[in-house]
This record gives sequence, C-alpha cells and structure tokens, in this order.
Amino acid sequence: MTAAPPLSIILDCDPGHDDAIAMVVAARHANLLGITTVAGNAPLERTTRNAIIVRDLLGIDVPVHSGANRPLVAPPQHASYVHGESGMDGADLPEPSGPPASTDAVGFIIETCRAHEGAWLVPTGPLTNIALALRAAPDLADRIAGISLMGGGSFGNRTAAAEFNIWCDPEAAAIVFEYGGTLIQAGLDVTHRFQATTERIERVRVLPGRLAAVLTDLFVFFSNTYVSRHDDMEGAAVHDPCAVMALTHPHLFTTQRRHVSVEIHGTKTRGMTVIDERRLRERPGPNCTVLTDVDASAGFHVITESIAHFSQ
Ligand code: RIB
Ligand code: CA
Repeated sequence: MTAAPPLSIILDCDPGHDDAIAMVVAARHANLLGITTVAGNAPLERTTRNAIIVRDLLGIDVPVHSGANRPLVAPPQHASYVHGESGMDGADLPEPSGPPASTDAVGFIIETCRAHEGAWLVPTGPLTNIALALRAAPDLADRIAGISLMGGGSFGNRTAAAEFNIWCDPEAAAIVFEYGGTLIQAGLDVTHRFQATTERIERVRVLPGRLAAVLTDLFVFFSNTYVSRHDDMEGAAVHDPCAVMALTHPHLFTTQRRHVSVEIHGTKTRGMTVIDERRLRERPGPNCTVLTDVDASAGFHVITESIAHFSQ
C-alpha cells in the first residue's frame, strides 16, 4: 500500500495563545509550508511578532508572512480582553529574530498553493487573508485539498450568536464558506470541550526548556481568563489546535455533515455561522464537515507530546 502523501498545510493565524499551540502541533505533525498572519486577537504587527517568536522557539525553518491588517469591510476589532494587549500576555517572551519574510501573505498563499497542489489552508483567526486569496485566485479552490478552520459554532463568544474569528470579518467568512471546496469547521461546540485544565497544564510545566516554560505560562494566563469569565469552565478552550488535529488526528473527533452559511446583515446575528440542523429532505446539501466532539484527553496528549518533541 503506498504511503499517504505528507499533509502539507499553511497556517493562517492571529497569535494568540491558542494559535501558538496550533503552530506547535502543525510543526510536529504536518509539512508546515508557511505561517501567515492576520489582524485579529491583536493588531497585525503584534500577531506577526508573536508568530515569529513562537516559530523561533520551535527552532523551525518556516517563513512567516504578514497579511491583512484589517477586515474586508468591518472596522478593526481585537480581543485584548482575552489575550491581553500584546496578543500573547502572560509569559516572558524572547525578542523576535527578525521581520516577517514578506508583508504579502496573500501572494504567498496563492504561489504556494499553486506550487504545492493538494495543500490545506488552516486558518485560526479572522478569514481575511483566505478570502482575499480565493478572490484573487479562484483556481485555488481546485488546487487545495481543503480549508480546515477554527471559527463559528452553534453559539457565540463575542456575541450570543457570533464567534470572534467570524464576527471579526463576516464578509471574509461568507466568501470562505461559499468557496465550494472541502471545508472543515472547528467551532465552539467542539473547542469548548477541549479545555486546558490544571492537570493538563502541569504535564507541560514539567517539560524542559524555554518553549515549554513559555507555553505553560501562556496556558496559565489563558485559562485564568477563561475560568474568571465563564461560570462553567475548568480551563481555557484550546480552540485553534482543533483545526490542525482535524487533519492530523481525525480519529479524535466526532463530525457531522451540514450546510453552514454566514450571516452578514443581522443586527443581533451578524457573524453567526448558520448551521442547518433541519431534518428535512429538501434542506440544502452539506458544504461543511462540522466537528461536534473531541477525545479531549487524547487530544491534549498530542499537544503535550508535540511540545516535548521541540523541547529536547
Ligand atoms: O473564538 C476563538 C478564536 O478567536 C480563537 O482562534 C482565538 O485565538 C481567537 O482568535
Ligand atoms: Ca486564533
């Protein structure tokens, strides 16, 4: 039996405590072609700085290209109330080794997907870069293996209806959910079941080296924020690695095929992912594989082992 082709991905992110963990897992379990950054949790210069810092701590030779500094239409909004002003508060971070490889994330995405047929796009922040790439190069829809994104869900976090990544740039999200190719959604329904409990964080703390020390402090900060802001959580929802592990460890997830679209006009629902749960025969055909549950214990072992791999 021929071996499956290596899983090649581009991680498009807005580090972001959980984006940092997604990068570790992607570097460990996939062929990470590149990292692109977008404004989201923090302004672009901060998410880019954070992405370079995490890349440096991993000691990997992967380019970071910065992208959109604001959504397609919506005014820029950030999430310092969760991630702090830096976008990755809570740890003693090293200085970045240098600037991004370019400021043209969209061009990098287009060129790389044309050069590497069958790559996956894994966005874990607002979908601005992805939407711009799909609009500038419609051929990408047939060249990529698919898009595995963190975003949306049957409930919100930034509003009652909208999750932050989608809420931040609904017009971009609508383009992505309508692109017509393979789509995987890691929304809040699954990510809230994947929590960085104290016991799980302690398994990272005991690992040697600066990467583990930094990630432990980031987990502690992130979890303190979540536990203080929610009345039913034992640790931070570790959202972004779910979009990576949906590809690298699909057996860990329960999924459903659904039609998902994005609301861009609602006064109360703008940025909502409308997941069609109707059991009607004539309901629209599914365009998305929605993650609905995760083996959280096994999933966190993947994270811990990935960190350990870069901590020797
Ligand atoms: O709502 C959670 C998402 O918003 C995660 O990707 C987190 O990093 C923030 O970007
Ligand atoms: Ca993110």
